[in-house]
Amino acid sequence: MNDDVTVSLEVNRTPVARTVPARTLLVQLLRDELGLTGTKVGCDTSTCGACTVLLDGQSVKSCTLLAAQADGCRLTTIEGLATGDDGRLHALQQAFHERHALQCGYCTPGMIMAATSLLEELPRTPTDRDVRAGLEGNLCRCTGYQHIVDAILAVAAERAGSAAQ
Ligand code: FES
Ligand code: FES
Repeated sequence: MNDDVTVSLEVNRTPVARTVPARTLLVQLLRDELGLTGTKVGCDTSTCGACTVLLDGQSVKSCTLLAAQADGCRLTTIEGLATGDDGRLHALQQAFHERHALQCGYCTPGMIMAATSLLEELPRTPTDRDVRAGLEGNLCRCTGYQHIVDAILAVAAERAGSAAQ
């Protein structure tokens, strides 16, 4: 019996379609079929968050979804976050770079995607506690988290400042 499914979706603003076995996970579609290896696999228990992407603007762990569940959706991975045709870094990418919010970098794509969603969802400028609670599904084994939280708070403060002007 052929259990293949055809999945059509928009990935980083580009329409794509692939026919894959029905059991294919979303993270496998991204990495193995589309070559988007910025999305990482850090566990097999859905706990690390290294595989976090945005599905219709919401952060999801792409190892917990079948590729078929993303059919018709709009997906953003770390490769699609940079803004502008010149590849300018997203504010969060820049802040992580400037504030030393990574060491090995393995968790970083997932952290940045989760933070992107968090900053969109919070109705007010987040506190240190908000950021830590918002990122509780993302693990980092290197940094101790403080620099990650600082980078996210810096972007939030910058946005609040621009909005007030
Ligand atoms: S790979 Fe660890 S939560 Fe998805
Ligand atoms: S920087 Fe190494 S796991 Fe986070």
